[in-house]
Amino acid sequence: MHAARIPDDIAHVLVTPAAYATDALYDAYRWLRANNPLGVAEVEGFDPFWVATKHADILEISRNNARFPSAVRSTTLTTQAGDARTHSITGTPHLVRSIVQMDEPDHMKYRLLIQSWLAPANVRKREEEVRTLAREAVAQFVAKETKCDFVKDVALHYPLRVVMNILGVPPEDLPRMLRLTQELFGASDPDTERFKAALSPEQFSQLLIGVVQDFSEYFEKLTAERRANPRDDLATVLANAEIDGQPLPPLERTSYFTVISTAGHDTTSSSIAGAMWALASQPGLFDRIKADPSLILALVEEAIRWTTPVKTFMRSAAEDTELRGQQLKNNDWIMLCYASGNRDEEIFPEPDRFNIDRTPNRQLAFGNGAHVCLGQHLARMEIRILFEELLPRLKSVTLDGEPRYSESFFVNGLKTLPIRFELA
Ligand code: HEM
Repeated sequence: MHAARIPDDIAHVLVTPAAYATDALYDAYRWLRANNPLGVAEVEGFDPFWVATKHADILEISRNNARFPSAVRSTTLTTQAGDARTHSITGTPHLVRSIVQMDEPDHMKYRLLIQSWLAPANVRKREEEVRTLAREAVAQFVAKETKCDFVKDVALHYPLRVVMNILGVPPEDLPRMLRLTQELFGASDPDTERFKAALSPEQFSQLLIGVVQDFSEYFEKLTAERRANPRDDLATVLANAEIDGQPLPPLERTSYFTVISTAGHDTTSSSIAGAMWALASQPGLFDRIKADPSLILALVEEAIRWTTPVKTFMRSAAEDTELRGQQLKNNDWIMLCYASGNRDEEIFPEPDRFNIDRTPNRQLAFGNGAHVCLGQHLARMEIRILFEELLPRLKSVTLDGEPRYSESFFVNGLKTLPIRFELA
């Protein structure tokens, strides 16, 4: 047994998707930050892993990619059986090979292909396009007249449309993309889980291989199309990109398309839904922001902190190393608990409170260092624009039932947010 072992009940929370839909997660994080901020979870069915819950440690690990690489072990928490299955399919710990799973020097070569395209100045050029999509989302909201499920009716669709628009996937293909991403990375929804549990390991592997093949067929067609007819979208950039003078190999190209199409929507949806929850439930907040729309920027940042949609990413240690007084061994696996870092009392007074007056708001929901989220400027802009368009149409908003969270230890957020509202 490891000296820094985390008690079983707490470790169990960290690997239980259903716990991510309850306060049990935040209770566990609070306990860990106070009592065992860098401990080891030893849970049956999983390789042991370190659990980083402090803001400072998550930053230190994220900023030191050579010491804590991404390529060596799975970048998402996975069971030993899942890890073995992935190895048997790809011969590596990863199902795809995107920038998320790469280390230097490849990571930066690939990242630079689109980094400037998603930089603030370039993203601002898409503001009018994004505003058009926001207006369409608001029109659908207004059509609901007095009440709606804000997640299903607004928060889920709008970010998907924004990211597909940037990528260059036509609107009629959105349902297919949504289905593919859900099958590959979908939240551990009880229905999906039951379906998966009924499959043999071989059938499950076949399912995964089939989804990856579907993705790659779709994107290879899009690539051929954009090579013939270039446009101002990310598909064109990726179709014509070269690494060391060569076009991207098919696996890396599909993986790139996959990460853009999966990383950018349910993450942003979660923050949009969290912002609306705060507006509907915190006395005075709605009126304050209505009276001073410049506060929307602070609303966006606090919603991202408070929801922290990406709950965890994994890293490993590249060498025996010391952190927070603990001895990590070469190849040890480490969980970065972003949602815990974002509720670290050392950085955020009253961390559980939604408070738009945090200046500066040092939230780390986008990660940090070499892998820091490439879509962060787009995400902030699209959330801001949605509320700029939505708030003038609203006179009041309240909760109309219990909000519920999705169950996943990777990306999660509200899956329903019933609200009642008066239009302005
Ligand atoms: C609120 C919304 C979002 C959140 C919370 C979020 C969060 C994250 C996090 C935590 C990482 C990993 C950082 C690390 O490993 O250190 C990441 C990486 C990434 N995100 Fe986002 N993301 C969001 C929106 C988006 C959007 C809209 C896009 C697409 C346009 C996007 C594209 C990416 C990509 C491509 C990476 C990989 C970067 C790399 O490995 O170098 N994200 N994001």
